Amino acid sequence: RIPLLMDCDPGHDDAAALFMALGSGVFDLQGITTVPGNGLLPNVTENALRLVAFLGEEIPVVPGCVKPLAGECRPALSYHGATALDGVILPLSQRGSLGENAVDFMAAKIREAAGEMVIAALGPLTNIAALLLSYPELKGKIKRLCLMGGSTSGGNITPAAEFNIWHDPEAAAIVFSSGLPITMCGLDVTEKMALRPEEIEEVRRSGRVGALCAQLFDYCQDTFGGNGRDLVVHDAVVSAWLIKEGLFDTRRFYVEVDTGKSLSRGCTATYIRPFGVGCKEANIDVVVGGDRDGFARLFIDCIAKLG
Ligand code: BDR
Ligand code: CA
Repeated sequence: RIPLLMDCDPGHDDAAALFMALGSGVFDLQGITTVPGNGLLPNVTENALRLVAFLGEEIPVVPGCVKPLAGECRPALSYHGATALDGVILPLSQRGSLGENAVDFMAAKIREAAGEMVIAALGPLTNIAALLLSYPELKGKIKRLCLMGGSTSGGNITPAAEFNIWHDPEAAAIVFSSGLPITMCGLDVTEKMALRPEEIEEVRRSGRVGALCAQLFDYCQDTFGGNGRDLVVHDAVVSAWLIKEGLFDTRRFYVEVDTGKSLSRGCTATYIRPFGVGCKEANIDVVVGGDRDGFARLFIDCIAKLG
């Protein structure tokens, strides 16, 4: 199985991505590290602990950086609610998070995995940038970073920026320019992979985890315009790409993160044409689309396997 670390800010779609990864049976999930984004660090860490407890797993949960590299937290409360996982009440976990810092934890796991570690980054890139700054020697030992974030054209929090990149552009710039093998699952692909209402009902009927997952989706639907619409589950696309890359259309582009102070702060400027002022050698595998039906089937099947 593929050794995996999941860095996330649960978050409704982060939870869905976690369920999908575990249900696939493809990964040896060695840890969940948390980063502020959808909620503040204590909230998203608590959510991760409760999700792991609900699943009956013993995956370590390790809190990461408290704030973006520069600036303050600006949690996505209007979308994910005050707890960052509103809409369900999960029982308390009997276990606490590890006292260790996520960055040191990730470094130790990467060393142990001897070049095989894959990282799924489902929130702002603060912890990943901190890892690269603190342990530059580990860069060559990360097999791949697959992240949800960015867009080749237009954002969802500002006209130019996607939320995860916007929340910590300085961190994203460090990561994108690091030379790591990176797959970017941005809005280009996530918005094309929306689940249909009848598929959400299939998830609901598939078992205990499916019922919880559908309840989380109900909250998102209720918050943003009611049921009966298709639902984008951004972070789950990262799990899907890692499980079955062949479902997706992935292209290599040069991408640079705008860390300026203008309205395009947090934009992942993508040289769709491989030339032009400032263009450099392609550095990111950008997922631009894929087989929506195949994604939905894979999602439903993975969740159903959890019972
Ligand atoms: C991203 O922002 C968060 O709200 C979601 O969890 C996802 O990671 C989508 O822009
Ligand atoms: Ca997320």
